[in-house]
Amino acid sequence: MNNFINISDVKDIQKTIEEAIDLKGNPTKHKGLGKHKTLGLLFFNPSLRTRLSTQKAAINLGMDVMVMNFGSDGWALEFEDGTVMKDSNSEHIKEAAQVVSQYCDVIAVRAFAKLKDREKDCQDEVINGFLKYANVPIINMESAKGHPLQALADAITIEEFKALKKPKVVLSWAPHPKALPHAVANSFIEMMQLQEANFVITHPKGYELDSEITKKASIEYNQDKAFQNADFIYVKNWSAYKKYGEILKTDADWMITTHKMKLTNNAKFMHCLPVRRNVVVADDVLDSQNSIVIAQANNRTFSAQIVLKKILENIK
Ligand code: CP
Repeated sequence: MNNFINISDVKDIQKTIEEAIDLKGNPTKHKGLGKHKTLGLLFFNPSLRTRLSTQKAAINLGMDVMVMNFGSDGWALEFEDGTVMKDSNSEHIKEAAQVVSQYCDVIAVRAFAKLKDREKDCQDEVINGFLKYANVPIINMESAKGHPLQALADAITIEEFKALKKPKVVLSWAPHPKALPHAVANSFIEMMQLQEANFVITHPKGYELDSEITKKASIEYNQDKAFQNADFIYVKNWSAYKKYGEILKTDADWMITTHKMKLTNNAKFMHCLPVRRNVVVADDVLDSQNSIVIAQANNRTFSAQIVLKKILENIK
């Protein structure tokens, strides 16, 4: 693997999921692979899971890790070519990416959508700027458009917990007081389209995602109907895509409750975390035996580790 920007950068997704599960049996088996190699983690936005699980993955592979909160501690970056840099941006991505490449053998970047300008967000200028100007492999730790490390961990989790060869997996929108990006939902949809699953997306009208991503996925506007016979309920809020970044609905009728989970086939509850209790999901669902969010977060280490392993094998 050269870079990991999208799910499509993984050649054989099913084999990769199985390899990641295999790593869990002996996480430090490939400790020599990352010796004298440095991973740089650049954060333009906050993180708990991505930050720690990606470090843990690198440590398991014997890598050294450098972490920078670029959004708060770095110089403000300019991305336009040929611009007269007389405003607030102090450093061009051209220099920044090449400089970091001298210190790091692999660079991982987190830069969320700003949700103000769809065209600009769709350009994903931070991750694509590093991809263009860095001289080392780039890993996406959540960009404006996708969160593939999360989607890989989600697929690993479903593989581990599924009782049926082809489970029914439902991605459900849920309310949230803040406008949230589309990246997690986008990558989960892309991943589910590659899996053997009966996949359904449910959300209120107006919350349709990019049709380039949802493609022919089944969309059911009645949440109760969507939940019937589901084996996995994957919950995530996102802001509107058409009315870009807007919040169209905040009332609690789409919150995940025990009553709604009873409509399912005793489904497992999934969420990428962080999650707002009693806004997105009721306490009793999140605290139930069917909630697998902690196992899901644990798999973030192994999704990052299998990606790093494949990149290291390629640069050795
Ligand atoms: N799920 C996820 O990416 O978590 P963090 O934002 O805490 O990294």
